[in-house]
Amino acid sequence: MTEKLHIIPHDHVLSRADREALLEQRSMLLWFTGLSGSGKSTIATRVAQELHARGYLCYILDGDNVRAGLNSDLDFGEQSRKENIRRIAEVSKLMLDAGVIVLSAFISPFREDRAAARDKAGSDRFVEVFVDCPIEECERRDVKGLYKKARAGEISNFTGISSPFETPEQPDVRVESAVESIEQCAERILAHVLPRIHVPTVSH
Ligand code: ADX
Repeated sequence: MTEKLHIIPHDHVLSRADREALLEQRSMLLWFTGLSGSGKSTIATRVAQELHARGYLCYILDGDNVRAGLNSDLDFGEQSRKENIRRIAEVSKLMLDAGVIVLSAFISPFREDRAAARDKAGSDRFVEVFVDCPIEECERRDVKGLYKKARAGEISNFTGISSPFETPEQPDVRVESAVESIEQCAERILAHVLPRIHVPTVSH
């Protein structure tokens, strides 16, 4: 696109702070990163259930609802993965503005893209959760049968086999899904985020 579009953001009357006050929560983006089969979506689901039970509004973004729809035009080449994460970060940002607690579960293999997601959300609202699981264990589980296909050369650019995964250097929370139970992982994540989400109720 060569021509600059003249887009002037509309100054909405209601702010994020108004919506957060209504919901009695502070919006946050919990960013789950890790290999395919490491347990990102399972753990995110567990955390979301616990938050929901405590009265917080949350929403999970993962491959099922994003790659099947909004990002159905993207494959697993490097540029497509970058675009995948860029769009997810933008959607997450809108949802943060809506006051929602977003749990985003994607491999997101590149440090640079995760850092860009953090910048977009604002680092005070972003929690990087590294679901750390050795590839041997992911491959042993092979829930979707994709590792077998990748080893057989039927899938190209497969993360951990023929495409890199850049390990987070300083994640906010690191859970070891091959060692800890789903409940233990979820509990540790909750312990980290609950104090940051909670907004003390103001008495009128
Ligand atoms: S990301 O790298 O762009 O962040 P994303 O989380 O959206 O990946 O999608 C990963 C899921 O797509 C995997 O869990 C797996 O089910 C499936 N998949 C299909 N092809 C590949 C591939 N080449 N590499 C990794 N995952 C793949």
